[in-house]
This record gives sequence, structure tokens and C-alpha cells, in this order.
Amino acid sequence: MPRIIKKEVSLTQYEADELDEVTQNLIESAKQSALRAYAPYSNFQVGAALLLDNGKIISGNNQENACYPAGLCAERVAFFSAKSQFPDCQILKVAIVAKPASQEQFKMATPCGSCRQVMSEYENNQEQHIKIYLPATDGSVYESDSVDNFLPFKFSNKDLNS
Ligand code: THU
Repeated sequence: MPRIIKKEVSLTQYEADELDEVTQNLIESAKQSALRAYAPYSNFQVGAALLLDNGKIISGNNQENACYPAGLCAERVAFFSAKSQFPDCQILKVAIVAKPASQEQFKMATPCGSCRQVMSEYENNQEQHIKIYLPATDGSVYESDSVDNFLPFKFSNKDLNS
């Protein structure tokens, strides 16, 4: 008989003022970073801000290119920047937010598949989960307690070694 294998994923929704000050600041950093994005082709600006265990906040934004596939998402710019500067750091949290150039408001953006894979690589190789914060248009903030939540049945170095 075929069996169904299920994996549960869940997010927690907070009002912004229910989050601690550090996390609120992280979200603000992601927003400021989105405003500096280089996104002349999609006009869709994305910002990501990471909190490291050394207390530093590293942010990044999407960098596009006339040769479209050469561009890179905000999350990967931020993660690669953090790990290239602080290779031994643990990444505690990431806030991600988007802003269409035509709109005043920021909006929620969940990470693309390639960024989930990149975030997962670092989460797998550190002692703790990376929390993800996604601010929504209505002022609430969605929290995921790990990257795994966004990448069930992931591919990892365990698959290479088995
Ligand atoms: N983008 C990101 O920066 N992060 C994501 O997770 C989704 C998409 C960027 C890539 C491209 O510059 C623009 O948004 C439109 O896809």
C-alpha cells in the first residue's frame, strides 16, 4: 500500500509591536536596504537584513543586470556578504521585505527557491535555526522558526554523503 509522508509547516503571525526591539530594527534595516536595491528591470525592490550572533546586522538587496540571469536576489546578496565577512558567525534571524517601485508601501515577499536552498545550507551547518521574519502590508509580521519550514524535503550535504 502506498503511504503518505507528511511534513507540517507553520508560521506565527505577530503584530509589529509584539516583537522585541532588535527584531523591529532588523525589519527596518531590511526596508532601508530594499530602498537601495538596483532593480531597474523588474522595478521590484527587495531587502534582506541578517542578525548575526556577534550582534552585527548585515543587509543586502537585489542586484539586477541587463543580462537578466546574472542578477542576484536580496537574500543571497545578504547571506553571501555575511558569510564572506564573518565565516564563523551564526546567523540568528533574517528579515525580508519587498517594495514595488510603483507603490508607497512595502509588501510581503517569501524567498524564492534558490534563496531557500542557500539559507538552508547555512542553517544545516550551524548549531541553531535561522528565524525568518516577513512583514506584511497590514503591519503584522510572519515569523518562521527555521528555514526548514520553507524547504520541506530539502536537498542537503547529507544527500551527497549517503
Ligand atoms: N527577488 C529577490 O530579491 N528575492 C526573492 O526572494 C524573490 C525575487 C528579486 C529578484 C529580481 O530582482 C526581482 O526580485 C523580481 O523577481
